[in-house]
Amino acid sequence: MVTAVAPGRVNLIGDHTDTTGGLVLPMAVDLVTTVTGEAGGHEVVLTSDTEAQSARVPLLVTDPTAVTPGWARYVAGVVAELKPTTGFRGHITTTLPVGAGLSSSAALEVAVALALGFEGDAVALARLTQRAEQRSSGVPCGIMDQLASAAGVAGHALLIDCHSLSVTPVPVPDDGEIRVIHSGQSRELATSAYADRADAVHAVEQIVGPLRLIDDVDALGGIRDATLARRARHVVTENARVRRAADALAAGDLGLMGRLMVESHRSLREDFEVSTHALDHLVTRLLQTPGVYGARLTGAGFGGCVVALTRPGVLNEGWRVTPSTGAHC
Ligand code: GLA
Repeated sequence: MVTAVAPGRVNLIGDHTDTTGGLVLPMAVDLVTTVTGEAGGHEVVLTSDTEAQSARVPLLVTDPTAVTPGWARYVAGVVAELKPTTGFRGHITTTLPVGAGLSSSAALEVAVALALGFEGDAVALARLTQRAEQRSSGVPCGIMDQLASAAGVAGHALLIDCHSLSVTPVPVPDDGEIRVIHSGQSRELATSAYADRADAVHAVEQIVGPLRLIDDVDALGGIRDATLARRARHVVTENARVRRAADALAAGDLGLMGRLMVESHRSLREDFEVSTHALDHLVTRLLQTPGVYGARLTGAGFGGCVVALTRPGVLNEGWRVTPSTGAHC
């Protein structure tokens, strides 16, 4: 009998930077997906507490997008990438809200890969499950979600360099509370708009070279197209904010961390244009509450969740999350 556990993640700061090998500062959370079962047979069969229909995936699956029901595509993506030689029969339970912006799909992929016998370190696990996510969703996503789930460290956020894939744990002070609050708006546009933004930053890199190597926005002067220039400015300034945020957290300066989160939201709203009225409204409302250091949209945007950093006990909405250990068997 195998039991594999993988956490969801919340990103504290550094969004839309991973696709250009930039910096991100997520943490694994104490909400997890668990796969329990046994190897055997010629297909992967998984039932789930939260889904009416089970997943039944042949070992030789080649097109995960064609697999039904919808959630089984993520299982199929992992099977297609991992290519296990023996099947598996098991059951999934989860404490993660599905589709709420806490990376339930990454947690599912990472837990399934471990249950199916993946061997290797956290980076290899994240690379494999990132490819699985790309194959099953068709979205050219970065590596942040899967690597945060695979490499989580209790009590710490993770400063990840998405180019070298180095992971540096940064302690999260005990006097800060992290809450994730849903905007009430689902992320329906996220698929096409995410790909559009990824295309934009890659187009910019054809002009100015790798954005991760630029720390001065003056170096973006050669970009004629005003929209592309704003997209690039977001990435360059966001990488700088992540660096400062990691230092602020390590120094226990929650006030500065909060201000950087607010600046990040403004940049995602004005320069990268991935916010929505619902997200902006929620951030503004939360920032009016005394004891809230900062709040920003988290993840891809276009709806979904806001993350807030607060003094303990000042908000009682959403999910209270604590930085947790990464995936394990
Ligand atoms: C999604 C992707 C990540 C990352 C974020 C935005 O969560 O899966 O790779 O790009 O959006 O930061």
